[in-house]
Amino acid sequence: MIVEIPHNLTPASLLGFSQTLDNLPDDELYEFDFGAARWFPPFSMLLLSVLLKRFRDQRPDSRCRARNHENHTYAAYLGFFQSFGLRHGNEPGEAPGSDSYVPITRLDVAEIQAEADAAWVEPGEIIEARARELSGVLTQTDSGPLFDTLSYAIREIIRNTVEHSGAEAVLLCAQHWPTRHEVEVGIADAGVGIQQGLANNPSYRGLTNRDALQTALMPGVSGNPQAGRGQEVWQNSGYGLYMTNRICRNGGRFMICSGDSAISLNQANKTELPCNMPGTAVRMLLNTHRLPELREQLQRFRDEGHQAAQTIRGANRSFASTASQMLSIDFDPDRGLDD
Ligand SMILES: Nc1ncnc2c1ncn2[C@@H]1O[C@H](COP(=O)(O)OP(=O)(O)OP(=O)(O)O)[C@@H](O)[C@H]1O
Ligand SMILES: [Mg+2]
Repeated sequence: MIVEIPHNLTPASLLGFSQTLDNLPDDELYEFDFGAARWFPPFSMLLLSVLLKRFRDQRPDSRCRARNHENHTYAAYLGFFQSFGLRHGNEPGEAPGSDSYVPITRLDVAEIQAEADAAWVEPGEIIEARARELSGVLTQTDSGPLFDTLSYAIREIIRNTVEHSGAEAVLLCAQHWPTRHEVEVGIADAGVGIQQGLANNPSYRGLTNRDALQTALMPGVSGNPQAGRGQEVWQNSGYGLYMTNRICRNGGRFMICSGDSAISLNQANKTELPCNMPGTAVRMLLNTHRLPELREQLQRFRDEGHQAAQTIRGANRSFASTASQMLSIDFDPDRGLDD
């Protein structure tokens, strides 16, 4: 049978496609039609990659083919096709990366762990170094509000994969459009998903995917029952998703998808969408115009979070770990962002 890849590659249409794919009847041959050339945004590229990979893995007795993939030279260049096993174009991470994008990149969790062990440091430090590298590629600098914010946000989402998902690898892809004052970062894993991650904490067992997503975004909520005990920098405190989603919503957008549920948030609105996602996928859309004011807001986010955590069942009420507070950020508000 021929399976058409949605023409409109928005996250919403791909979440719909995740359900379509899962409901396809059995067949010997599936031919995926990529259609005419069009824009593949970073997060959409990641979603499609994890969905096609899962489809292939779930139907080992069927053959999968592609048609019209030759039309998509940019996606091929970024490693999209190879990322789900189709031998066409660059491998993930092969394209050099430029001042505007990070190609599809695969970080191996065991490698991060081994590197941390060899250097006698916590994996958080290795992840921080990777996140700063990626942020450096996107911003072409090594300091300033945009560099710091991106380093932080990318680090927190990668940490979550490494610390909670059980996945072998994390996939990411990102792009910066200086003239649009916009950065999009997509990070996905094929691990246990938010619902199961949270269920490691007895306070959050038996939640639906939807309720687990809502809960995980709250301050002080962690699947780690030890969250907030001890004062180590990298100790879980349940603030990673809370802080990153508030940062993105400051003029941008934050989306998280896991299992049969996705939530997309901007400053004023929440949209919920049904889907069928393996693991966890996060989309962060940052408005670079609004970052200088973020400095003052971070303290407020943390204080509001801490106050809210007092009323949330099972939440860590004592503190946000140093890592999750984002205190390492030292903004120079006079510095231009896109110059
Ligand atoms: N990729 C993921 N896979 C599985 N579960 C996840 C994932 N990301 C987050 N979670 C679940 O959501 C919870 C909340 O994540 P969050 O980043 O807010 O806090 P934390 O990681 O527990 O603590 P901190 O980020 O402060 O170190 C996690 O504890 C985990 O249970
Ligand atoms: Mg975290």
